[in-house]
Amino acid sequence: MSYSVKTTKEGIDYNAVSKVLKSFGMSDCDVDTQKKIFQNSYAVSFLYDDDKLIGCARALSDGFCEAALYNIALAEEYHGQGLGRILIESIIEQVKQCNIILYTHPQTIAMYEKFGFRRQKSGMAIYHGNETELQRFEEVGFILPEGYRFHDNEYEE
Ligand SMILES: CC(C)(COP(=O)(O)OP(=O)(O)OC[C@H]1O[C@@H](n2cnc3c(N)ncnc32)[C@H](O)[C@@H]1OP(=O)(O)O)[C@@H](O)C(=O)NCCC(=O)NCCS
Repeated sequence: MSYSVKTTKEGIDYNAVSKVLKSFGMSDCDVDTQKKIFQNSYAVSFLYDDDKLIGCARALSDGFCEAALYNIALAEEYHGQGLGRILIESIIEQVKQCNIILYTHPQTIAMYEKFGFRRQKSGMAIYHGNETELQRFEEVGFILPEGYRFHDNEYEE
């Protein structure tokens, strides 16, 4: 097996990108929209096993000071072999001049700490979705309940 990373947006198998993301419930877009999402991003990384696309990642950025990572995913059968690290390091490398933010599932918080990320208490988000979807976002911790306050500092009282 020969693994490689591509950081170009052309000639990419966006069907495979869509499939990997869908397998983790990370996208419900059609393939054309998925392609536009990656092509409109500042930086992309795709991991290949020979000529088979097995992982993806993308960054939104101004290219100078701020960046956000999205859609980091690797096909399940390749997990736990250091390939996720290659993918994540590749996308970080492309925005390394920037402050970098991301949000993730509770299960991958410890993993991102290994890449130098620290948790935030003041991140805020507007999510689009129906009541059930927003409820699920709350359950996994993407958003805290409306009006939520941390009570261990004086600023939020
Ligand atoms: C996230 C993901 C890409 C990681 O890929 P992977 O190949 O399993 O990761 P690696 O084997 O390269 O591990 C990278 C490092 O993270 C660590 N790690 C991996 N999963 C971890 C976890 N759940 N908790 C803590 N550390 C973890 C590894 O021990 C390794 O550390 P090391 O390099 O210091 O030894 C993969 O698990 C995935 O696609 N998950 C589903 C999609 C997802 O949840 N994406 C993140 C949300 S944006």
